[in-house]
Amino acid sequence: MLNFEFYNPTKIIFGQDALSKISAHLPENDSYLLLYGGGSIKTNGVYEAVIQQLGNRKYVEFSGVPANPEYEVLLQAVEVIQQNKLTHILAVGGGSVIDGAKFLAAAALYQGDSWDILANRLPTLPGNALPITTVLTLPATASEMNSGAVISRRSTGEKLGMGGAGLFPKTSFLDPMVMKTLPKKQIANGIADAYTHVLEQYITYQVGSVLQDFFAESILKTLHKVAPKVLSDEWNYEAASEMMWSCTMALNGLIGKGVPQDWGVHAIGHEITATYGIDHARTLAIVAPSYYRELLGSKKEKLEQYGVNVLGLHSGSSSLAEKTIDAMEEFFQSLAIKTKLSDYEVVPDGFAEKVSEIFTQRGWTGLGEHKNVNPEMVKSILKKVY
Ligand code: NZQ
Ligand code: ZN
Repeated sequence: MLNFEFYNPTKIIFGQDALSKISAHLPENDSYLLLYGGGSIKTNGVYEAVIQQLGNRKYVEFSGVPANPEYEVLLQAVEVIQQNKLTHILAVGGGSVIDGAKFLAAAALYQGDSWDILANRLPTLPGNALPITTVLTLPATASEMNSGAVISRRSTGEKLGMGGAGLFPKTSFLDPMVMKTLPKKQIANGIADAYTHVLEQYITYQVGSVLQDFFAESILKTLHKVAPKVLSDEWNYEAASEMMWSCTMALNGLIGKGVPQDWGVHAIGHEITATYGIDHARTLAIVAPSYYRELLGSKKEKLEQYGVNVLGLHSGSSSLAEKTIDAMEEFFQSLAIKTKLSDYEVVPDGFAEKVSEIFTQRGWTGLGEHKNVNPEMVKSILKKVY
């Protein structure tokens, strides 16, 4: 196992009565920005529950955070925070709302052009951000228990990450009942996103990390097991709970400790969302098969381990790694997620070349656990996703 430091201060309150405990975790004297998205929280009782929990505390609402939270929209929310001297952000939604809250928490206290936080990937240290509390409505990203965020800027076609130990939510409330109103498409996205988070921290190379590999494999196996149940028409609380906690565990920092990490699939996927607006999880299902086929040589051992331990393939075949990638692609397809860019009615003229050029300009010349995925390889990977 590699050396590591692990820090995660987020308190999780999980279960059917989680939302009734919000009030006890909101300081009385703080004043709140109640941040949410396009209104789904008004269709499932979450909005009413949160308003009730806020009680007499001072709060101002800001709604309309879009999927892939948009910088220009968030700047308006920064103004609301500053004008009203708000001291705490209460984010109610999925990854987009929670990521938006993290940007606001940092930008509200940042002296300067807040785009720097993203463009220069400035880490937000404890004390340099407003406190954040979250009520999760969509299991997928684990943003409710990590310190990262991804923000889009449509005017420039950029989608960039930010983070820092100052951005862990204080408390996150996870009630699987909120998943009842999720469209199947979002549930499938959640599974595919969390699944790929595990792959990014698992399909690298072997460092003798038995426990970490078991963590990764058990999350993948749980997602395989619950996927048909959460995607069926019949509501299943137990399956919803398993999915919700699996998604949080996939990216709360734990399984990536002591092992090499990749994140190349995400880096390339973000460019697809930035250019074509395709949902985050779907971009991962498009990129991952091609990415792993390109890197078959260096990832062979872990791919084979994944094939045998998670996908139930037989060891001993000389083409086991290739069969594993095929089975992974079939799993994404079993969620009704298309795995080719051409399935999404986009015209990818010159797209592979453009991304390769952007990565060169940004100095992203060595992605992956070996830092050897150069812009030429990115181009080659993207040429195969059509
Ligand atoms: O906006 P509303 O009306 O709330 O509707 C949302 C949105 O349209 C809807 N929704 C959420 N909960 C619902 C619901 N609809 C019905 N019932 C509910 N209970 O779902 C739609 C998608 O929501 P969104 O928050 O965009 O989805 P997700 O959680 O998948 O977040 C995606 C964003 O997170 C980023 C992605 O890049 C993307 O921008 N990520 C964040 C990460 C992190 N912070 O660690 C890591 C990830 O890899 C990812 O990059
Ligand atoms: Zn993701």
